[in-house]
Amino acid sequence: MINIAIDGPAGAGKSTIAKLVAKKLGFIYVDTGAMYRAIAYDLLKNGIDPEDEEALRAELSKIDVALSYEGDTQIVLLNGENVNGFIRTEEVGNMASKSSAKPSVRAALLELQRDMAKKNNVVMDGRDIGTNILPDAQVKIYLTASSKERANRRYKELIEKGMEADLKKIEADIIDRDNRDMNREIAPLKQAEDAEYLDSSDMTIDQVVEHIISKVN
Ligand code: DC
Repeated sequence: MINIAIDGPAGAGKSTIAKLVAKKLGFIYVDTGAMYRAIAYDLLKNGIDPEDEEALRAELSKIDVALSYEGDTQIVLLNGENVNGFIRTEEVGNMASKSSAKPSVRAALLELQRDMAKKNNVVMDGRDIGTNILPDAQVKIYLTASSKERANRRYKELIEKGMEADLKKIEADIIDRDNRDMNREIAPLKQAEDAEYLDSSDMTIDQVVEHIISKVN
């Protein structure tokens, strides 16, 4: 199987790029952030504080996260229910950043992610794919962009969806989330030694996509 690992901070364009690369190559796109978001959504819905280890473990034992596909669309199932419509809020993203630092949360998703890559050609994006989940991936990319550019992109995305957005707050949240994701003890976001560093601030989406595809052939 061919595995492409794309890691990087929030808003770097990972999912847009990974989706297009997967489509062009006929691979499956695996959005691991969506899995962490599904767990975060469950914790918020049930009022569980991820700092409360006991409550967290008890809740994790009750939930099952799975992925299915409708055409190119990845459907995240939380106990069999499609939660795609609930996991894209800033609130869920911020909770996912906190809860994904917990070893029990990471352990709950590790095998599922590795198993998908074992059985399929995948483009998988996240924070620790090249370093931890798929250390033997044939192509590894560390995709980033300046925090200002990333905040701008997320702001536009939200406005286009008709949601409210505050650019300053988005940038502050992005910086906070970067700090948490990069400095946590377990599986922090960092560039794998054999990953290519790609700053997309001044690249078009197509340029990044073509560049990644050229590494597969
Ligand atoms: O990529 P995203 O914004 O959907 O991810 C949400 C949070 O999930 C992010 O702040 C960190 C966490 N995450 C992670 O720890 N490991 C991954 N492989 C993917 C996401």
